[in-house]
Amino acid sequence: LKHPLVLGIESSCDETGVGIVRGTTLLTNTVSSSMDEHVRFGGVIPEIASRAHLDAFVPTLQESLHEAGVTLEDIDAIAVTSGPGLAGALMVGVCAAKALAVATGKPLYAINHLVAHVGVGLLDGKPDAGAAAGLGAGQLPENLGALLVSGGHTEILRIRSITDDVELLGSTIDDAAGEAYDKVARILGLGYPGGPAIDKLARQGNPKSIRFPRGLTQPKYMGTAEDKGPHRYDWSFSGLKTAVARCVEQFEARGEEVPVADIAAAFQEAVVDVISSKAVLACKENGITDVLLGGGVAANSRLRELTRQRCTSAGITLHVPSLDLCTDNGAMVAALGAQLIMAGIGPSGLTFAPDSSMP
Ligand code: KG4
Ligand code: ZN
Repeated sequence: LKHPLVLGIESSCDETGVGIVRGTTLLTNTVSSSMDEHVRFGGVIPEIASRAHLDAFVPTLQESLHEAGVTLEDIDAIAVTSGPGLAGALMVGVCAAKALAVATGKPLYAINHLVAHVGVGLLDGKPDAGAAAGLGAGQLPENLGALLVSGGHTEILRIRSITDDVELLGSTIDDAAGEAYDKVARILGLGYPGGPAIDKLARQGNPKSIRFPRGLTQPKYMGTAEDKGPHRYDWSFSGLKTAVARCVEQFEARGEEVPVADIAAAFQEAVVDVISSKAVLACKENGITDVLLGGGVAANSRLRELTRQRCTSAGITLHVPSLDLCTDNGAMVAALGAQLIMAGIGPSGLTFAPDSSMP
């Protein structure tokens, strides 16, 4: 099939997403989030998320089909996130997808959520608007990389084939970037989820007011281009989180008001500086000429800005999905499903189980 009409289902965390694509063209992306129900607990409660998926699934599906102007009969295939994620939450989406596949007789594809965060960058559209990159199937740049920055992962990848050949060049050795945002937001009393709160508050702060550490940037970790150190392309964010906590304590010990906006801005600058500098270095030294940015933290305004600047200076083309395609959604699942079909890969059958810790 050249331009398969694919329905994608996402339920790995708190977002119930149903998206529809035709080949590399985005038709609809409908998302219902249960985040409001988790906020008072300071984190996503799996049981509540699972129940919310059950409530939201059918209305989200109906809205997505309606908006796309298609019916279930028109769909060529169904794609569903099968991991990684919350086990119970995944199960709701996988059961729903299997039920639809059985009822309609359509083929079903099990999708890796993380690869989908990258694959969404292959939808057509203008950078930063509509969709992402205009890199259709079969015409992927030869030297393609991906910078995946989410609540669970921070990775720079080489993508030889989005469907079966992804090489890890570097990753975090402790906290993921999104995790660091969420933990620091808690320290600063900004509530949950932390990423968007810090992103917003940082605009009112001075990023240069405090200098927080950039993890794993010392020569013993970096080495040189010829003689690479053990963590040249890796990140570490746990020391940064501790540095923020100590900084807050020091202001409090002196009886001074904690400059929350300045700390947020300085923290964000440290995260974004080290992510973008190491990602660009990894690309330059590995001949990567095009990079897809993906994952929930890719919604961060400063990360988008600084990574774009540094890529431009290095002669690397950065492909940035629109904001709504960065956070969890069904369109990214559909987008990767369509890539699998266009690559001639067969469906997953109806007996696969969700895998909450899928690599
Ligand atoms: O990809 P995602 O939606 O879920 C995972 O698969 O992990 O990423 C969620 C993470 C959370 O840690 C959240 O705080 C972070 O992405 N995030 C942000 C922003 N929006 C979401 N971090 C920084 N700035 C943002 N604007
Ligand atoms: Zn995600």
